[in-house]
Amino acid sequence: MSRNDTDAWVERLVRADVRATAAYHVADAAGLVKLDAMENPYPLPPAVREGLVRRLGSAELNRYPDPQARALTARLRQTFGIDPRWQILLGNGSDEIIQILIAALATPGHGVLAPAPSFVMFRLIAQWLRVPFHEVALTPDFALDVPAMLEALRTHRPRVVFLACPNNPTGNLFAPEALCALIEAAEALVVIDEAYLPFASRDQADLLARYPNVLVMRTLSKLGLAGLRLGMLFGDPRWIAELDKLRLPYNIGTLNQLAAEVVLEHYPALREQTAILIAERGRLFAALGADPRLVVWPSEANFLLIRLRSAGARAIHERMRERGVLVKCLDGSHPLLAGCLRLTVGTPGENTRMLQALDAALAG
Ligand SMILES: Cc1ncc(COP(=O)(O)O)c(C=O)c1O
Repeated sequence: MSRNDTDAWVERLVRADVRATAAYHVADAAGLVKLDAMENPYPLPPAVREGLVRRLGSAELNRYPDPQARALTARLRQTFGIDPRWQILLGNGSDEIIQILIAALATPGHGVLAPAPSFVMFRLIAQWLRVPFHEVALTPDFALDVPAMLEALRTHRPRVVFLACPNNPTGNLFAPEALCALIEAAEALVVIDEAYLPFASRDQADLLARYPNVLVMRTLSKLGLAGLRLGMLFGDPRWIAELDKLRLPYNIGTLNQLAAEVVLEHYPALREQTAILIAERGRLFAALGADPRLVVWPSEANFLLIRLRSAGARAIHERMRERGVLVKCLDGSHPLLAGCLRLTVGTPGENTRMLQALDAALAG
């Protein structure tokens, strides 16, 4: 091997499984109505922006951030009413927390279990960390298949189980009895991922007091701060103390800590935006439900899953893009998602444009 041949060096030194992996793909949304990634479509209110400029302007960027992000953690605890018994761990998005959890718990013999379809990062991060990932298909109406999950728990003996409530991309909450049955049977830590809680009718934090093997994960992303990257995990301090050992020091930068604190001081303004999105979800659900060319499922999140009855989903997705609207095509990603598109709820104007684009695309 020549010492100048970079291709040869890369091929020799980068793990074969990494070389075979495609990078996480984010669709280019330039110039399009962006309804593919469950973002809040509203900018921060002017008063919040002014507060941000003031506070960020005086940040001490020559110093490392507070490694424990104490002020922000206190603000999160207060804003979300987190019980004083529980400790909070912060991550650079929930994604980083998923990585910490899998790195701390899973082994080559005892990996990760999740229902399918669900959030793709559970599988991708398990793959990157080279631990087994097991998935169990949801039922055709997207409920947990409890007997099959119990069987998978017995067979694979995973160390971590991820249950997204509401689930992405199906939008539903799992039945409390199903969650309890799995938690009680699992010799694993069960992580309840509540990324879409701002749009849901109930949370599952009460499970923390009932079971020693549960932690709850949330994020500010869907609330209107996707650009900030701030996720949180909370539960018994004994779990959090162990997981905290794998958190990179200073993982939440000074600007992020300050910005999140400022924005959370204005939490009611974010809730007003969420309320509009929930109302819009209802409007979209009614409009889509009246269309005989498709099926739409009820959602407790800020998106709706639809199945096109006949037309090819990929072609419809492309035609919608040509009409200036970007949604997510899920066809081909899991058998239960054949013919499916996921539509993020946007502003009233964006939603109307999306409905028009879908209608025109279906009309050919
Ligand atoms: C179920 C679920 N959990 C977690 C996340 C990621 O959240 P974050 O932006 O905090 O990394 C997503 C993002 O789409 C999600 O759908």
